[in-house]
Amino acid sequence: MGVLENRVAIVTGAARGVGETIAATLVREGARVVLTDVLDEQGVQAAAKLGANARFAHLDVTREADWARVVAETLEACGRIDVLVHNAAILHLGTIENTSGETFRRVLEVNTVGPFLGTRAVLPAMKAQQKGSIVYVSSIDGLVGMNGVTAYSASKFGVRGLAKSAALELGRSGIRANSVCPAGGNFEMYGPWLPKLAGFAEQTAAYNENRGIPGTASFAAIAEAVLFLASDAASSITGVDLPVDGGATAGKFIAGFNTL
Ligand SMILES: NC(=O)c1ccc[n+]([C@@H]2O[C@H](COP(=O)([O-])OP(=O)(O)OC[C@H]3O[C@@H](n4cnc5c(N)ncnc54)[C@H](O)[C@@H]3O)[C@@H](O)[C@H]2O)c1
Repeated sequence: MGVLENRVAIVTGAARGVGETIAATLVREGARVVLTDVLDEQGVQAAAKLGANARFAHLDVTREADWARVVAETLEACGRIDVLVHNAAILHLGTIENTSGETFRRVLEVNTVGPFLGTRAVLPAMKAQQKGSIVYVSSIDGLVGMNGVTAYSASKFGVRGLAKSAALELGRSGIRANSVCPAGGNFEMYGPWLPKLAGFAEQTAAYNENRGIPGTASFAAIAEAVLFLASDAASSITGVDLPVDGGATAGKFIAGFNTL
């Protein structure tokens, strides 16, 4: 029996990448899952692959009307909402001087305001149940700052603050709120930025290698961390940041020092 048997989950940004794997992992554990995204065709295909316990709904996380519709449809179809995974996000790379106010606002709108709106939208149902788990997918860039990643980093710090405040506000209503902070994710998110980074190939490779466990986290590793926080195995855990980063944020790593 799966650890999410009889549970109902909504996952944002689930048409591809990490979100698709999170949805598949929750279905594997017995949950009925609503995959949501702005990519309708890919989302329908992703849900179809997961069988009868998965379906797709269009949801732009920045639109309150979309949240209201998806929450209402989920309650109509499934009767409850136990888990909400805020996974949808966009990336922007640029120094402060090379990032317009409009771009900065857009990144915050999707990555931080979106999860706020979604959290508000599921609260009546989760409070009525006196049970719920909300997982926010942040990033290592939400744990430590990074030059040239200003807007994204600010948005991912923001979502962690949202999660911690939600944890304190909602614990007495049986609702937990936690963040997962991965190092790594889908190529389709950062791929379009690679031409801009071409001159820094060695530096970016070193960035990924100089950590306890070299390389980046797999989709599966990130999804298993989300599953843990979503499940009753984490029943006393709320307000935490769970890095899935091979120790990248544990401290400084200097390869040569490993032979001292
Ligand atoms: N890619 C990385 O290297 C990396 C690293 C650390 C953390 N993350 C985080 O992991 C999560 C998953 O990202 P991914 O790597 O799978 O990238 P991805 O780009 O494949 O996934 C993001 C998804 O969000 C969707 N999305 C974008 N704007 C939306 C909106 N307004 N409303 C609804 N959906 C929207 C996209 O269509 C896409 O399917 C994100 O929160 C991301 O910030 C990614």
